[in-house]
Amino acid sequence: MLENSKKEVSENELLKQNEYIRKVHSIVASSPKQKKFYSLAMGCQMNAHDSEKICSMLLKMGYTQTFSENDADFIIYNTCCIRENAEDKVYGKLGYLKHLKRQNPDLLIALCGCMMQENHVIDKIKTSYRHADIIFGTFNLHKLPELIYNRMESGDMIIDVWEEHGEIVEDTSYKREYPFKASVNIMYGCNNFCSYCIVPYVRGRERSREKEDILNEIRGLVKDGVKEVCLLGQNVNSYGKTLSTPVTFAQLLKDINEIEGLERIRFMTSHPKDLSDELIEAMKTLDKVCPYLHLPVQSGSTRVLEKMNRHYTKESYIALVEKIRKAIPDIMLSTDIMVGFPGETEEDFQDTLDVVRKCGYSTAFTFIYSRRRGTPADVMDCQIDEKTAHDRFDRLLEVLNSGIHEIHSKLLGTTVNVLVEEVSRQDEDIVSGRSEHNSLVHFKGDSSLIGKTVPVKITENKTFYLMGERI
Ligand code: SAH
Ligand code: SF4
Ligand code: F3S
Repeated sequence: MLENSKKEVSENELLKQNEYIRKVHSIVASSPKQKKFYSLAMGCQMNAHDSEKICSMLLKMGYTQTFSENDADFIIYNTCCIRENAEDKVYGKLGYLKHLKRQNPDLLIALCGCMMQENHVIDKIKTSYRHADIIFGTFNLHKLPELIYNRMESGDMIIDVWEEHGEIVEDTSYKREYPFKASVNIMYGCNNFCSYCIVPYVRGRERSREKEDILNEIRGLVKDGVKEVCLLGQNVNSYGKTLSTPVTFAQLLKDINEIEGLERIRFMTSHPKDLSDELIEAMKTLDKVCPYLHLPVQSGSTRVLEKMNRHYTKESYIALVEKIRKAIPDIMLSTDIMVGFPGETEEDFQDTLDVVRKCGYSTAFTFIYSRRRGTPADVMDCQIDEKTAHDRFDRLLEVLNSGIHEIHSKLLGTTVNVLVEEVSRQDEDIVSGRSEHNSLVHFKGDSSLIGKTVPVKITENKTFYLMGERI
């Protein structure tokens, strides 16, 4: 009963928005000149995936896409606030848009995404960036057609930011960036409240999509030619816990693995505290699940990890990595690491380097800690000065890069399967794609290979990418 009523809310909402799509479409179509939109995703994979949905809605409303801001009638920035520089970038761009709008007063500017969930940002836009037309947050993306219509009709600045999430709106009929690989949301939000992180405040509490909805979406994608899916969630390991009939992430993987025609399954992100033996077993036995795992460590110091509220220790993380490698010897690991967390000492930092040396990552996303308003770490004592943080950051990269080189040299002489993504921009005789381990591989080939999975022998290790020959 509850399930049905939930679905009805979502379907009614979609019908309502479709009505607005038609209304906006007739306005856009009556314009003497074809209207164009420019869309920019400024954050993580979830943010990029949301922007795919935004682009689809705009196409349905009769706009065509342009990749030049100067040429656009509608500009939409999907913002990120994970670090301060992400926010600075938005303000910088808004400054430029002021000038564009002076040249073209009909230009509409929309801002959405995580940064718009912060009250101080909305206050600042209201006072200093009055040229923004439409502002909404992370919980009501599906309302874009209604918001555009209201802006067109009223001429006023429209601000519609929800404090909390509503029902999950199941609309999967959108355009994808690539025809052969696609991101699929399996859950939204986060309950972990790592002490440095803004995500739980701007993306709300954790909620999972129904397993059948996910499976149906992937079946549809495969029918359209998709070979690889990446399942997205802030912590996929806790997928399904909040559903009325709980499902584990491993069970979801098993069902996805059964989908005929699908070749590869990837996922991110896995929180180390919740990675179960059941998942390791599933990764080992399910043939479509790639031997690649993104397992953010953040810091190698148990003391810092505790202050970060991560719920694991240096030792338990290393033991987990060893257990995974034992079960799946050819697995490649990637991670997120932060330096300069409040109170981080040289000794703590050495622990981070130690973990990096022991775990052997093939990729790593590295960050300097950035204070986020409203998070517990922002008010912790002993914030680290910039010079120390930068110095640690540089030393971290040195250790990481030599580890990445070493791990990749293990692939020399082996044959990997590359899903070809594109022709190289520098050399039109070279194509590139990702191996099952998610390593970037370049080799001789042409555009006819795009979207195909081909065996490639690795001949050269260039640290961040590999060169190979098609066999
Ligand atoms: N849910 C994912 C991470 C999402 S945010 C996870 O738990 O791993 C992506 C990365 O940004 C984080 O892993 C962290 O390394 C980094 N990050 C988050 N907040 C940050 C902050 N305040 N300063 C610097 N880096 C941060
Ligand atoms: Fe942020 Fe932690 Fe949630 Fe990841 S798990 S999104 S780092 S609070
Ligand atoms: Fe992603 Fe940035 Fe939001 S990392 S979840 S877009 S704060």
